[in-house]
Amino acid sequence: METLQVNSPAWNLMICFCLFITSVIIVGGNPQQQTGKEVDPNANSVNQFSHEMSMPRFAEPIPNVTVSIGRDALLACVVDNLRGFKVAWVRVDTQTILSIHHNVITQNPRVTLSYNDHRSWYLHIRDVHEEDRGWYMCQVNTDPMRSRQGYLQVVVPPSIIDKETSTDMVVREASNATLICKAAGYPEPYVMWRREDGDDINYNGDTVNFIDGEVLHITRVSRLHMGAYLCIASNGVPPSISKRVTLKVQFPPMLTISNQLVGGYIGQDIKLECHTEAFPTSINFWTTEKGDMIVSDMTVSGEKYEAISTDSGYNKYMILKIRKLSPQDFGSYKCVAKNSLGETDGFIKLDQIAVPSRPMVITDEPDDDLKDYDDSDNDVGNGGPSETVFNSLPTDNSSLNSDAVRWSRDGFFGWITSAGFCWMATALIFGR
Ligand SMILES: *[C@@H]1O[C@H](CO)[C@@H](O)[C@H](O)[C@H]1NC(C)=O
Ligand SMILES: *[C@@H]1O[C@H](CO)[C@@H](O)[C@H](O)[C@H]1NC(C)=O
Ligand SMILES: *[C@@H]1O[C@H](CO)[C@@H](O)[C@H](O)[C@H]1NC(C)=O
Repeated sequence: METLQVNSPAWNLMICFCLFITSVIIVGGNPQQQTGKEVDPNANSVNQFSHEMSMPRFAEPIPNVTVSIGRDALLACVVDNLRGFKVAWVRVDTQTILSIHHNVITQNPRVTLSYNDHRSWYLHIRDVHEEDRGWYMCQVNTDPMRSRQGYLQVVVPPSIIDKETSTDMVVREASNATLICKAAGYPEPYVMWRREDGDDINYNGDTVNFIDGEVLHITRVSRLHMGAYLCIASNGVPPSISKRVTLKVQFPPMLTISNQLVGGYIGQDIKLECHTEAFPTSINFWTTEKGDMIVSDMTVSGEKYEAISTDSGYNKYMILKIRKLSPQDFGSYKCVAKNSLGETDGFIKLDQIAVPSRPMVITDEPDDDLKDYDDSDNDVGNGGPSETVFNSLPTDNSSLNSDAVRWSRDGFFGWITSAGFCWMATALIFGR
């Protein structure tokens, strides 16, 4: 490619051409007016038509182009019949000449030009910036000049503006909480909030799954609001983006005991249960009636006490197992929960009950439904009454089994006896 020397004839020609094009743009005005001036009243329409046919024509409109920021854009201008005329690309908004004929005029290093057969003229914009968005004109230096425009749309995927977006938050229960999320992008992103786990949100009286907009304002926060929230921004330009913000709700410990009175007999193993809620996480323990802390050492086998605590979010389920109850084990037990905001406790009374002498047995007619639950039915024999043993009170095996059998047999004979009695009574009444 030859380089242009300043003051060379080619350079002068170039300047001349530039001035011409610029004047065309500035003085351009309404093309129809000019067309009107140009019309020779003596020329007949056939002449006009053949003149028109010989002039440059745009083969197609300049397509609008949409590109994501950072990508490359290509604007195409196809002109038939260009002959000796020249094509220029102009940025309409800024009235900047980008290229004339085979030369790039703009200083912008991201702009290049390519052409084909003196017919197709391509303007390339590399690594598109937001300021490249706008109208681009393809001009032909006819008199009057002819032109077409195409729009370059530069879209920007959404991004979260961290400076203006809430970060993890800790609030006291019953106070207000406001989470804010700001997003940038083009077109302007749509912003919404939802819980990360997808659960519904009690939002100021309504139950909703998500909240439209940048602001999540919860009045009178409850512990149920605790969790991770996602601010999601989208504008149709992939990828959508989200930011995770956790909301922690502080409250003093709360305690519930479903069974405040527990019965046990000497030698039995029993369980005491206590449920607490607290945030920050509480320290939980059991004490005896006298207030001595119960320490369970699970490394010792056959240990008297075993304290188990299972956490689930701000919930704690406490279980105290007491093995082989002895007389001094009866009395009250206390479960205690403490955190920085407070402390609470609750009592469970462990009462002694008599050692059950025999297990409870329910006798029943043979029943198809029962067979599904208890295959041992088959062992009892056809026609015999089936038995269901509720051996919730474990005793010695052998005595249990024999007792159970005896009990059910008693039941069966008792039934036979009462049936016979009934028959006899009926015979006495109606037999006369
Ligand atoms: C380009 O977009 C403009 C509006 O932005 C519209 O008027 C014009 O028809 C579009 N041109 C083409 C070729 O789609
Ligand atoms: C909480 O928000 C409600 C409604 O927006 C307002 O009336 C109330 O004063 C706020 N409470 C506090 C403690 O800011
Ligand atoms: C009790 O019965 C079970 C099975 O029925 C058996 O494995 C166990 O050894 C028995 N225990 C005693 C003390 O007989």
